[in-house]
Amino acid sequence: MSAIFISGVTSGLGQATAQLFIQNGWKVIGTGRRAERLESLRSELGENFLGLCFDIRDKAAVDAAIASIPEGFSQIAVLMNNAGLFVGTQPVQTASMDDWETMVQTNILGLLYCTRALLPGMLERGKGHVINIGSVTGTRACRTGNVYGASKAFVRHFSDNMRADLLGSPVRVTCIEPGRTRTEFSLVHSGGDVEASERDYLGGEPLLAEDIANTVWWVVNCPQRMNVSKIEVMPTCQADAGTMFAKR
Ligand SMILES: NC(=O)c1ccc[n+]([C@@H]2O[C@H](COP(=O)([O-])OP(=O)(O)OC[C@H]3O[C@@H](n4cnc5c(N)ncnc54)[C@H](OP(=O)(O)O)[C@@H]3O)[C@@H](O)[C@H]2O)c1
Repeated sequence: MSAIFISGVTSGLGQATAQLFIQNGWKVIGTGRRAERLESLRSELGENFLGLCFDIRDKAAVDAAIASIPEGFSQIAVLMNNAGLFVGTQPVQTASMDDWETMVQTNILGLLYCTRALLPGMLERGKGHVINIGSVTGTRACRTGNVYGASKAFVRHFSDNMRADLLGSPVRVTCIEPGRTRTEFSLVHSGGDVEASERDYLGGEPLLAEDIANTVWWVVNCPQRMNVSKIEVMPTCQADAGTMFAKR
């Protein structure tokens, strides 16, 4: 039975993807820092779910957790690099260096640690698909998006460079770039302020986590000859609205 490794499975896109893959007969290895959520996912999803509790910013912890994966879950066919966050609401000139380091360590380094640890096994088995979760902010500037958007530009470009290095191998690489999606993402961004996070969605209809889970399912189940290299998914109520013009 094939397995998918999903970083950041304790809420949002990762959780919805884990549920979908389990329903469809896959094994799921899901990670996160919140042990109690991993335990309740195990109760909900059953023995085909393996939770690994670690902080993705800690390379030694990532390597140790991956080394601990039992034989029954070792046939990892898909890696979904999903764990990520947007912290800080300040412009570049006043933003917190701590917040920047958190985003670089999580959104960039964490993704690299998981990729480097799991990719050789995929190549050895002659089967694999790496799905990197970028963002619409990776290709367009937005105010106070400074390091978050830049980290997602990294994810997009790294995905392209992975495809270049893996050319000729059977391993596929996809970058999925969601627009606004209702998850705990806004709650984390607002520092736990529930009202502020709800304001992000007020009056509009954001994507749901299951919409991105279904996108992951589709790209994974495309024929092996077909690699969806990148895909942007926006809510119907979200669009580009031109550049800004600062008046004196
Ligand atoms: N929601 C959106 O509007 C949106 C739009 C575009 C892109 N994205 C991207 O989608 C991905 C998933 O976000 P989401 O919307 O599902 O947000 P979410 O509900 O807040 O989920 C984020 C996940 O990342 C994990 N995570 C964060 N920091 C971690 C760390 N240091 N170590 C281990 N795990 C960590 C969290 O687990 P723990 O807290 O348990 O560690 C959680 O499972 C992110 O990469 C995000 O940038 C989201």
